[in-house]
Amino acid sequence: MIALSSRLDPVKPSASAWVSQAANEARSRGEDVIDLGLGERDFDTPEHIKHAAHAADMAGQTKYPPTSGTLALRKAVADKLRREKDLAHGVDEFIVANGAKQVIFNAMRATLEDGDEVLLCAPYFGQYKDIVLILGGRPVTIPCVAENRFRLQPGDLVRAITARTRWIILNLPSNPAGAVYSDDDLRSLGVVLADHPQVMILSDEIDEHILFNGRKFRSFAAINSDLKDRTLTVNGVSKTYAMTGIASAVAQLEKESN
Ligand SMILES: Cc1ncc(COP(=O)(O)O)c(C=O)c1O
Repeated sequence: MIALSSRLDPVKPSASAWVSQAANEARSRGEDVIDLGLGERDFDTPEHIKHAAHAADMAGQTKYPPTSGTLALRKAVADKLRREKDLAHGVDEFIVANGAKQVIFNAMRATLEDGDEVLLCAPYFGQYKDIVLILGGRPVTIPCVAENRFRLQPGDLVRAITARTRWIILNLPSNPAGAVYSDDDLRSLGVVLADHPQVMILSDEIDEHILFNGRKFRSFAAINSDLKDRTLTVNGVSKTYAMTGIASAVAQLEKESN
């Protein structure tokens, strides 16, 4: 019998994974269901990405890369950030990982002390809370209500910040509520955060391309350039390119930068 660490005690099985499993079971019984569980796209990974990934494998690119990602990939990411998000970052200012969740876990692991508070804007992606709990942090929930279109309000942010607040996690656009922030919304949050230098900002922008009705995406750090030094922008290819199960970011991003 394997003994689990008590660090895992507060963590419950993932509700979204349970919903998707229940939906699959219902489907296999012939029921017509809409799965609102795991965040899968409704299209397949684009063909050119699959081909590029296969070509890279066949060319022998299957060995350990540098820990922070190959230079070619980091250059491609820097190009993408400049082109799409108006964010100027040198290739040494970010790292490549196996998904957004890994980046978030690593960032929290590297910075949280026991009891440090992490602000979460509810409703939020459930695994933020699990990550904080596993690492001995204290998740602090700020309710974001439908009347405000599920956007965090500056006044609520002010009231939630304490001397122990280490991070706020923003999710732009937000999952599961679909909240979209205007430039002014982000600027107002930035004004509050500017007064609290102990708080770092994690801006999870994984769903940046899931926008409708001509809405444009703006990155938190692009709007609040004065906070860039304490903002960690998290991004990835799982949602935009329907690649939740394969790690071919290199192929896609290198292709885009050419
Ligand atoms: C808001 C949010 N962040 C991060 C992730 C996980 O991203 P990845 O698959 O790249 O680890 C998800 C997945 O559903 C998500 O909804």
